[in-house]
Amino acid sequence: MRKVTVVGAGNVGATCANVLAHKDIVKEVVLLDIMGNLAKGKALDMWQQAPVDYYSTYLHGSDNYEETADSDIVVITAGVPRKPGMSRDDLISTNAKIVNLVTESILKYSKNPIIIVVSNPLDVMTLAAYRASGLDSTRVFGMAGILDTARYRAFLAEALQVSPKDIQAVLLGGHGDTMVPLPRYTTVSGIPVTDLIDMATLDKIVERTKMGGGELVQLMGTSAWYAPGAAAAQMVETIVRDEHRIFPCCVLLDGQYGLKDIFLGLPVKLGKNGIEQIIDLKLNDDELKLLHDSASHVKQVIDVFNGMSL
Ligand code: NAI
Ligand code: 2OP
Repeated sequence: MRKVTVVGAGNVGATCANVLAHKDIVKEVVLLDIMGNLAKGKALDMWQQAPVDYYSTYLHGSDNYEETADSDIVVITAGVPRKPGMSRDDLISTNAKIVNLVTESILKYSKNPIIIVVSNPLDVMTLAAYRASGLDSTRVFGMAGILDTARYRAFLAEALQVSPKDIQAVLLGGHGDTMVPLPRYTTVSGIPVTDLIDMATLDKIVERTKMGGGELVQLMGTSAWYAPGAAAAQMVETIVRDEHRIFPCCVLLDGQYGLKDIFLGLPVKLGKNGIEQIIDLKLNDDELKLLHDSASHVKQVIDVFNGMSL
């Protein structure tokens, strides 16, 4: 794989492109934005960082989709972020139109790319890109679970005074306050987290994780970008290197966990063809209920989306 396009040169898109360039795993990164010369300027700045930070990935920016031609992977970060007081779902009326337009424009110049959606409300924007693209569902999926799990892992590392590297975890459901962190599947170097932390502290960390995006919006007046940009770049890396790593990603369900025709976060195996496997966890009744509650919430947003005349 040689070429990655990142659409949206704002906070998340620029960070994703920058992290990707530092990984030095693709020949070319195109940054695209409708905002005048923003993408051109940021990409030029990052290309001038290459001799300092020692990477060869060539970055260039544009507002013209012709320059994205023959992209192997496209990361969509275009759209508005939320402001304090807004939920991710409040963004749908603006972002659905943007994601539709971006996907159609990309497909004019790249025939069978893998598309990673980042724009919010994530689960429904991934559905929007999937429908607009006409691609197989193994090639259109969303980034949220890596970010949400990273927040959970960071909070646990702080509480346990251990390295975040040693915390393994999985999280399911929609990218919203109904997301489902799974303490039963959380370990610290193989040790069940429940052996190391009391339930009251763990419950607090789970709740803080669910509200993790909102906490940052309150602090910064807009949503996060360092961890989100890096998380999207990690998905690209796994695909480019065909690593078969397992990450929670937002994917189309086709009967798994009794759910169908909905995009939701689940652990999947990622490789050069996109989603290579959706992992079937043996959830207990409580976990399954939380997943279904999260799906119901996402379905309400899908209803709003379906009611829009796009
Ligand atoms: P931002 O405002 O910094 O950047 C968005 C960029 O999109 C702007 O530069 C804007 O010009 C561009 N844009 C708007 N319409 C466009 C179009 N039609 N074509 C090309 N570019 C277009 O916003 P930020 O912080 O980068 O967030 C981007 C999106 O990612 C938001 O919807 C945000 O909610 C979402 N997000 C999702 C996360 C996740 O975990 N899935 C995490 C963080 C943000
Ligand atoms: C986040 O979780 C806003 O979805 C974005 O930070």
